[in-house]
Amino acid sequence: MHIKDFAVEQWMNEWETKCTYNVAETCVYSVSLDELLGLCGVDEAEFLGSICDRRLTYGAIEGSPELLKGICGLYRSVSPDNVIPTHGAAGANALVLSTLVEPGDHVVSVMPTYQQLYSIPEACGAKVDILHLDRKKHYHVDVEELERLVTDETKVICINNPDNPTGALLDEDTLSAIVDVARRHDSWLMCDEVYRLLTQDDTYSPSVVDLYEKGVTTSSMSKVWSLAGIRLGWCITKDPELLRALLSHRDYNLISCGLLDEAIGSLALSHADALLARSRRIVRQNLATLMRWVESEPHLSVVRPEAGTTALVYYDYEIDSYEFCSRLIEEEGALVTPGDCFEEPRSMRIGYAYSDNVGDLQEGLDAISRFMRKLEA
Ligand SMILES: Cc1ncc(COP(=O)(O)O)c(C=O)c1O
Repeated sequence: MHIKDFAVEQWMNEWETKCTYNVAETCVYSVSLDELLGLCGVDEAEFLGSICDRRLTYGAIEGSPELLKGICGLYRSVSPDNVIPTHGAAGANALVLSTLVEPGDHVVSVMPTYQQLYSIPEACGAKVDILHLDRKKHYHVDVEELERLVTDETKVICINNPDNPTGALLDEDTLSAIVDVARRHDSWLMCDEVYRLLTQDDTYSPSVVDLYEKGVTTSSMSKVWSLAGIRLGWCITKDPELLRALLSHRDYNLISCGLLDEAIGSLALSHADALLARSRRIVRQNLATLMRWVESEPHLSVVRPEAGTTALVYYDYEIDSYEFCSRLIEEEGALVTPGDCFEEPRSMRIGYAYSDNVGDLQEGLDAISRFMRKLEA
């Protein structure tokens, strides 16, 4: 099966381990096991004791009861048998889309967003129509435009809330209007919610799975919970037939998620409030630093992100974004992601939550400033 190269992941694969300032990181500053145990108030010897004597079997194939309970706690109306654990949100997105989409299907996806949402359906043989998120509309889904693209033939509508790379957040009213469109055409509504809860104030939007009987959500421990290293994600649907189909496809490529990863994930989610407070503190303090920097740079502009960890920052230099970003890392050691990975020329995606020390972020931004001074010289 032919699939397009995953531009953002290829860029990160090439550069992530070679930079001094990783201003491309999309996870909230990852925790160590020590920090996690400290945040959860759990004694290290006690935690290790609870896992060291376990036989390393496949564990619970469909997810441990503790993990499923922790995941359910993040939603209004989800029960453990609605949840399917996967290897990260990447695994969840791939599982959902490859299960739902067949050759000849029609899919509508937003753009810019995480490329899985349109390139996997395309690889599955679907006709994919793109709903461009407009900068002038703060990258919010224009529901009238969505209405024009969706037909009775539309199998899946793909959205990402909050959106990567723009940081746009759809509120409950907009989500309900999108659900109305999906329901009228009997389409699945798949929403990648890997940055959900990571807001700049204490409100956050509901999950599509709590709003729509054909809503499917994907998420993971990577971003909000700072645990990308455990490769644990999930998809959720309340539709029994889709659940069965997802589990059937999953048998072919996953078996189980690994009991060590599940033990760490369950511990984190049983102390969700402590971790969320840490993550929100980091994204709020760091976004303020990013915004001050953009405002001080006359060649840059941005739509202020409302949530998540990323911002799409535009520059007005006559230089292609791959060249801008390659030279930036080679000359100043700062890694950002070319806007062209998201089909947004003359821009860069900045991940602003890569450290809990705003000084580190400022150093990365200063490196970008030094590079821009060279461009101007
Ligand atoms: C929107 C979005 N979905 C999914 C993923 C994959 O995340 P995970 O580490 O959970 O596989 C990412 C990672 O950058 C992302 O930004």
